Amino acid sequence: MRYGYFDHAADEYVIDRVDVPASWINYLGTKDWCTVINQNAGGYSFYRSSQAGRVTRFRPNGVPLDRPGHYVYLRDDEDGDYWSCSWQPVGKPLAPVPDEPPATPPTGPFSAAADANGAGTTPPSESGDAGTTRPAHTTSDAAPQATFPLVSPADRGATRSQAAYRTRHGLSYSIFESAYRGIVASQRIFVPLDDDVELWDVTVRNASDRPRTLSLYGYVEFSFHSVQIDQENFQMSLYASGADEADGVIEDDFYYEPWTYHYFTATRQPDGFDTTRDAFIGAYRSETNPLAVERGACSSSQCTTQNHCGALQHKLTLAPGETVRLAYLLGYGRRTAGAALRDKYAATATVDQAFAALRDYWTAKKAVLACQTPSEAMNTLLNTWTLFQAETCVVWSRFASFVEVGGRVGLGYRDTAQDAMSVAHTNPAKVRQRLLELLHGQTAAGYGLHLFDPLMFDECQRPDIPVGVKLPTVVPGSARQMLHGLADACSDDHLWLVPTVVDYLYETGDFGLLRQVVPFADSGLTDAERADAMGDEIAGRFDATPATVYEHLRRAIEFTAWQVADNGIAKGLRADWNDCLNLGGGQTALVTFLHVWATKALAGLVHELGPSEVPDAARDLARFDEIVQQVSMAANRELWDGAWYARGFTSEGVTIGSASSPEGKIFLEHMPWAVIAGVASRERAVSSMDAVHEHLASRFGTHLTWPSYTHVDDTIGYVTRVYPGVKENGAIFSHPNAWPIIAEAMLGRGDLAFSYYEALAPSRQNDQIEVRRAEPYVYAQFVYGRDHAFFGRAENPWLTGSAGWMYTAATQHILGVRPGFDALTVDPCVPAAWDGFHVTRQWRGGTYDIEVRNPMNVCAGVAAVTIDGIPAEPVPDAQTGRLVAKLPVLGAGRPGSPRTHHATVVVTLG
Ligand code: GLC
Repeated sequence: MRYGYFDHAADEYVIDRVDVPASWINYLGTKDWCTVINQNAGGYSFYRSSQAGRVTRFRPNGVPLDRPGHYVYLRDDEDGDYWSCSWQPVGKPLAPVPDEPPATPPTGPFSAAADANGAGTTPPSESGDAGTTRPAHTTSDAAPQATFPLVSPADRGATRSQAAYRTRHGLSYSIFESAYRGIVASQRIFVPLDDDVELWDVTVRNASDRPRTLSLYGYVEFSFHSVQIDQENFQMSLYASGADEADGVIEDDFYYEPWTYHYFTATRQPDGFDTTRDAFIGAYRSETNPLAVERGACSSSQCTTQNHCGALQHKLTLAPGETVRLAYLLGYGRRTAGAALRDKYAATATVDQAFAALRDYWTAKKAVLACQTPSEAMNTLLNTWTLFQAETCVVWSRFASFVEVGGRVGLGYRDTAQDAMSVAHTNPAKVRQRLLELLHGQTAAGYGLHLFDPLMFDECQRPDIPVGVKLPTVVPGSARQMLHGLADACSDDHLWLVPTVVDYLYETGDFGLLRQVVPFADSGLTDAERADAMGDEIAGRFDATPATVYEHLRRAIEFTAWQVADNGIAKGLRADWNDCLNLGGGQTALVTFLHVWATKALAGLVHELGPSEVPDAARDLARFDEIVQQVSMAANRELWDGAWYARGFTSEGVTIGSASSPEGKIFLEHMPWAVIAGVASRERAVSSMDAVHEHLASRFGTHLTWPSYTHVDDTIGYVTRVYPGVKENGAIFSHPNAWPIIAEAMLGRGDLAFSYYEALAPSRQNDQIEVRRAEPYVYAQFVYGRDHAFFGRAENPWLTGSAGWMYTAATQHILGVRPGFDALTVDPCVPAAWDGFHVTRQWRGGTYDIEVRNPMNVCAGVAAVTIDGIPAEPVPDAQTGRLVAKLPVLGAGRPGSPRTHHATVVVTLG
């Protein structure tokens, strides 16, 4: 069963059955303001911090599903019938939806087609000013969009009481459209690039043949600013904040946090308002049937104390065919700030410009890497949705969705270090910021603070909290409180950072970053403070004087070199990537392989930069080489299990992930790393990756382990306390699904690599929502495995490392376009059946138009390459030995090309 379709031309996912059994969400905002909103306008906003900067309230995991939201109600003032612009919260009976999406999904502007209940219309109109407008319609990209099936519910056999709804989730915006009893409405929500305000661009059209008298109500429920305070202990908040209206702006005032205000306003003066939630909704009612809407009048409620809302009523009289357009604005700050932005966006042209700028922002990102391949899933996901998802994880970190609702603050070390790897090409500034935050979150010993808030390193950066103010509600925190010792150190966190920094440098050429001096998490503290927070051994052994980025990376490598057991295998410490395994006192194969990978990445960089950039280059290279040799040897000696690599050892010396283990005989997450790190011989690589395929692959993706644990064993870990087929216990955990793609691509097995990509691709389940349930446009944290009755169902969508990793695996290893020190490598590994593909890649100021041809239908290996028609020699890849194309940096100084910033490249496989 399908609920929507991909509108490729508009870069939108269109939900035409809005009664999806789960929430399908979208992320709005690109800088400091974030809104998480579903297909029914349910959701919440926050400013900077999802934990401590909430603007609107959310009752997660509740009944009814996902309330409240950012709602627009419409009321026919002739008979009192009311509905909402999004299907929920009023939830009118739904008009039938056509079984098939339009053959060519329409992408045009708001349709002027037939009316909602019979009569014909004239086209809607727009003028430069907010408010009622007449004839002439713009076809600009920025105009609200709707399509013919929506505005003709009558044509689809709808009854008078049925409404047609459609939601369009785009890149950082969502549009909610409705057609009901001759009124066609749309609410387009987005956050302008340059203003921290949520705009609701609302259009209402009278598509009937008689004049209509309507009321419009914009409504939000304000949060007590902190997610905890919204859920518990209201004594400090419920009786200590207030709201009022003046000048058409509702101001929500936190008396106890004198710097915190929220506002809600509109580009038209309101005809009524409420600022008190209970006055608007009414006792024993909900957002479905608010008293004020039912009655047709707000009550001008305003008071100190109580729960607050922004509710603004606008009365509209619409002639047949007439359109009204106005904007609501939801923001953080004082009434005056709201009024200033209201005035700024009073002209619809300004709203359209802001929307067009947002579209341009994403268009520019999409242009950095655009592909055209024989795989529709790949084109849809790489060009739009996986990029968007990966950026979302980097910009908002991993704590704000409908499953994780902001209870944590800051950054998870390993997650951020991995996510940041994927979008250095589209968001280098944000990635650089994240890298510096992670480097600051690294201790002088080399390990990272597993969970930390970068803002806490600098009191001055804390959002709006005056120094010295002591508050009941503000989240406690300081750099010192975040510090932890070895007992809480994870064995993998810091290792992800090393290749991420190296990749960032390869992408940007910003090699000077290595010389930048960055504090450690424990810099600036007294010895006693460090000893207290981290233990004597750590505090005494390492000098916490701020050091260069290069030195930070070197310490990451040395930390793991230090933390190996007697057998040469990395200690598990608190946990590694699979934090449901109990590795305390045990050892980990994954980190052993990651250590080699990270060391090689740094060594490769030092090798290329040489002694002029790295003072002790020769000494360090020798040391790195020694680590690689020793660790690789230990890995092959201690971890080889016969047909694959074991996962590790418990504190009691029991092997995990061995053919001899009663359960959990084979694990996915470490196996590809033996290949990627170059630890495995070809024979062992093939044997273990074949075992992965045989035991773990499925049509929905690759399982994390087999067989799932059915007996609780705390020496193995929490993983045994999760039901079989769920999460880390034998589900298809999405994040590591990208890794076998990379490994298989390195092995040259393009059919297998692509089959792994395809199996997990969410868009391939678009017509199987009865199985998948979750959004078909994004990856989810896990898909239930074959040991569970929900096999194929995806859970915990959006905030998952699979987005970034899938993007990297597909673009850099299947399509094979990856930046390096001074060349862009093209090393595809594709299904043999592919005849070719096309990639446009911007890199270091140049644009490469790359056509890959595959006349012999091979998987990998470059036979010939031309750059602007001039043949170039394929060169052997250092790790795989196969021939690849190396494209030089374009630009000034490149000899022989008249178009110095553009190259047309033809790569022939064979
Ligand atoms: C979750 C965590 C991540 C961990 C993974 C596997 O996604 O956010 O840090 O690596 O689970 O356990």
